Amino acid sequence: MSGRDNFFFVLAILLGCIALWRTTQGQFAAPDAEPVFVATNDFELTQHSALEVSYGTFTEPSVPSTSVLSNSNLIRGRQVYAVNCLHCHGSDGQAQTPTAALLNPPPTNLFMGTVRDVETVLRYGIPSTAMSSFAALSDDDYNDVRDYALYLVERGTAWKVLTESSDE
Ligand code: HEC
Repeated sequence: MSGRDNFFFVLAILLGCIALWRTTQGQFAAPDAEPVFVATNDFELTQHSALEVSYGTFTEPSVPSTSVLSNSNLIRGRQVYAVNCLHCHGSDGQAQTPTAALLNPPPTNLFMGTVRDVETVLRYGIPSTAMSSFAALSDDDYNDVRDYALYLVERGTAWKVLTESSDE
């Protein structure tokens, strides 16, 4: 073999090793972006600003002091959500994704504020549906993504209250 061949041989082995090592490093963060809010009228636009004052944005969430959630890990929870849940439940929790369109029953709209028991659902999944158990996540990931799911539910409830208050 010439020196040049040797070089490519070693390079190939090196790349192989890096690829193997990568498979042991867990998942890449999925690309994530703040969903675009489209207001249907001026009232919604005003209320949406009010919502963001209390609850931040989807990608940089926060909660008001009246919330039962402690907000310290929600941004991390969002990152775990982006990797594990977003493709079914959507960037804004409303489950309007290409994956969701293929599922029967469809993923729950977490933004509607009508969720049964996030803890049980995450731990055991929902039998006979695409909702699997996430008990295999690390404790940190599990706790943070659970709180982020609860955040989506709480944010959805707050949005309902804000937009129903002076309807009609
Ligand atoms: C492969 C698609 C898929 C993924 C990924 C997924 N879900 Fe689900 N999820 C579903 C489906 C489908 C349902 C609704 C099942 C039903 O109708 O009973 C559901 C239901 C739920 C519910 C229950 C709502 C209720 O009614 O109580 C919660 C909470 C939830 N998912 C949270 C999550 C979280 C958090 C993640 C990520 C850690 C996640 N899901 C990942 C498909 C998915």
